[in-house]
Amino acid sequence: MDDPLAQEYSDQLKLQIVARIEAQGGWLSFADYMHACLYTPGLGYYSAGSHKLGAGGDFTTAPEISPLFGRALAVHIADVGRQLGEYEVLEFGAGSGRLAVAILQQLALLKALPERYLILEASADLQQRQQELIEDQLPALAERVVWLSEPPADFKGIMLANEVCDAMPVHLLAYSEDGVVEQGVSLTADGFAWQSKKIEDRRLLTKAVKIRQQIGEQTYQTEVNLLADDWLQSLADSLSQGAIFIIDYGYPFAEYYRPERRQGTLRCYYRQQAHDNPLVLPGLQDITAHVNFTALAEQALSSGLDVAGFHEQSDFLLAGDITMLAAELEQQLDAVKWLQQSSALKQLLMPGAMGHQFKVLTLSRDLEVLPRLQMQDRRYQL
Ligand SMILES: C[S@@+](CC[C@H](N)C(=O)[O-])C[C@H]1O[C@@H](n2cnc3c(N)ncnc32)[C@H](O)[C@@H]1O
Repeated sequence: MDDPLAQEYSDQLKLQIVARIEAQGGWLSFADYMHACLYTPGLGYYSAGSHKLGAGGDFTTAPEISPLFGRALAVHIADVGRQLGEYEVLEFGAGSGRLAVAILQQLALLKALPERYLILEASADLQQRQQELIEDQLPALAERVVWLSEPPADFKGIMLANEVCDAMPVHLLAYSEDGVVEQGVSLTADGFAWQSKKIEDRRLLTKAVKIRQQIGEQTYQTEVNLLADDWLQSLADSLSQGAIFIIDYGYPFAEYYRPERRQGTLRCYYRQQAHDNPLVLPGLQDITAHVNFTALAEQALSSGLDVAGFHEQSDFLLAGDITMLAAELEQQLDAVKWLQQSSALKQLLMPGAMGHQFKVLTLSRDLEVLPRLQMQDRRYQL
């Protein structure tokens, strides 16, 4: 169990959610519940001051395990930057700030620094941690890093989001022989409980019909990320020229709705333990769902963006010269540190680890073909 203070925060959050459920007539959509659990100011999982990312946290992301991830990404960023001339980078959900540090260090080496490195972070607590890390590790570049609260108008450059879409609140659908309903959260004497309701949101209904065509008559539970569509639309509105790299775990449409995922992809992480009950430990555990990359690509096209590539993370990092960058790093480290980095490299690249579980969707506007993205491109799967 967490320390008493964390437990007190969780109890406070629980009271707020209970009040909200009561105010809404006894039912809260799962998306609203998840939003409250993760992003309630001062109390939500991403908004309170607990240590989530990295070795001592609940989960580990690629930038936390090795700077090589950010360096290889920087090689792709520099390619786009060269086409654009003066450009900026905009990172969404920058976590601890480690990815920004690795990217800026590599771009400095490549002599391809952006005019500014912008960060848009949903959590005030993480924003503060990012500021501290960047001032500590990159004093000479810190003034180029600027935090925003919304995407800027007329943005020319590269936007990137690593493991951001999987942290967005999702709606839950439950299919049975009686039809499809939306799952939400209600109250019982024992606490939060699942309760279903007729789907009212028109966008959700349209998605539900399309998913039914894919899954057939199976009993099935799945997630729909409507917020990702709105988010992508806001990126498209902002981007005048450049590229967007979206990196996350997930699948294209046909693979997403396979029979083995009939319980959905919703997962909770508490102290490196995965489980599937989001109704416990509000504010203390992470809640995530896999990303439907076809849905993102369709939204991108309807927002007027081009879909420039879809890659397994391993192929994308190899195209970003990660093995050459690793050889350079080996020269700089002692044997023990290098051993850690070579095992991190395997984790980033191996098919059974992050190499194939994670995908990179590249979107673009007004760009020439990017040669590095022509190898192992899997857009045909979308
Ligand atoms: C799983 S963490 C990943 C952090 C970091 N990108 C990494 O790879 O270590 C998810 C991050 O996305 C942020 N986030 C979620 N939704 C967001 C949104 N709509 N805009 C910006 N940041 C968001 C969270 O606050 C958190 O920093």
